[in-house]
Formats: sequence, structure tokens, C-alpha cells
Amino acid sequence: MPDARLRLAVLASGRGSNLQAIIDAIDNGRLHAVLALVISNKAEAQALERARKHGAPAVFLDPKATPGKEAYDAVILEHLRKHEVGLVALAGYMKIVTRVIIDAYAGRIMNIHPSLLPSFTGLAAQQQALDWGVKMSGCTVHFVEEGVDTGPIIQQTAVPVLEGDTAESLEARILAQEHRIYPEAIQLFAEGRLAIEGRRVHIK
Ligand code: GAR
Repeated sequence: MPDARLRLAVLASGRGSNLQAIIDAIDNGRLHAVLALVISNKAEAQALERARKHGAPAVFLDPKATPGKEAYDAVILEHLRKHEVGLVALAGYMKIVTRVIIDAYAGRIMNIHPSLLPSFTGLAAQQQALDWGVKMSGCTVHFVEEGVDTGPIIQQTAVPVLEGDTAESLEARILAQEHRIYPEAIQLFAEGRLAIEGRRVHIK
């Protein structure tokens, strides 16, 4: 019988702890998906190691080998198509995704960001939260559209900012929640339960 599970690709640039949370959720049956492909723009990304250990195809694509953001994304798209990927999850992927992928995978690309969007987009979101003096921060899973960290929101979780927090301690508190909500959001997608209506994502 053909395998009907969602074929997931993860794009990651570094440590890959969110990728690991996804792998763990697949391994223990909380996420019904196949890790079809992991792509990194960094040869030394720990995410690639984690993928290989799980037995998933893991590919380093050197941005220098394909100059131009669109041309680079066209190479990524070829790989996504070759592996018949149904959903792309950005997990600590530190490059901006262009229209080339967004158009081909409209409504089928997700990202996780370590803040309660729309606050603190871009880099160092945890430090931005500390600098602003907010009492609550958190993380957001959202669909990706053109624009950085702007797409329709699927899931959010708040955590307190505590007296004496550093960017590192706040990051760790947020990360624990990232690892919980990202596999959950992907599972909702796998079950066909996410419906985008304008800026809102309804969970059926
Ligand atoms: C995570 O905190 C993720 O939310 C963040 O990078 C970290 C990657 O960690 N992403 C962004 O800031 C995207 N704007 P990981 O490699 O261990 O999953």
C-alpha cells in the first residue's frame, strides 16, 4: 500500500533543535509524517547530522555555488519536487525565502519564530523582547508569505519574562515551547485541519 503520510521537508541553518523535536515527534508517533528531506545553507549545520541519524536525506546547498536569491531557491525547489515534498517547515533557517518557493508552496510553508508576532520580527527576537521590557514573550508558528515573519498565525504560546533574565535564559524558556508547538502545528496540517482565511488560520 502506498505511504499516504505527509512528506515533510525542513530547512535549517544551525543547531536544529526544532528539527530534533520534529524527529522525536515522528519517532514516538505524535506526528504522522515522513521526514522526506532536510536542506541547509550551512555545511556545518548540526541539523544535517540530526537528519542523517534519523535516516533522512540531508543536503547542503551552497549559496555561493548558485549566486542570486531566486536562482538559489530554484535549486531548493528542484529538490523539494524531486522528493515530492508536501509541506516545508523552516526551522532556524536564516535566509529569506523568495517568491520562487513561496509561489510553488503557497499555504504549504511554515516558520517558527521566537516571539509573539507581530512583535520582534527578524534577528535576536529574545534580546529585542528584553530590550523593550515586555513582561511576556513566547513563540509563533505561522505560514510563510513574502515579508519577514508576517504570514498568517497558526499557533502561539506565551512565556513570562522573569527578573534577571538574560537573552540565553529567555531563549531556553521559549525554546521549550517551540519544541512543543511546532510538531503540533505540523500534525494539524497533516490532518488537513488548517484553513487560511485572509490573515486568520482556522483550526477545524
Ligand atoms: C529557534 O529559536 C527559532 O525560533 C529561531 O532560531 C532558532 C533555531 O534554533 N528562528 C528565528 O529566529 C527565525 N527568525 P534551532 O536551530 O535549534 O531549531
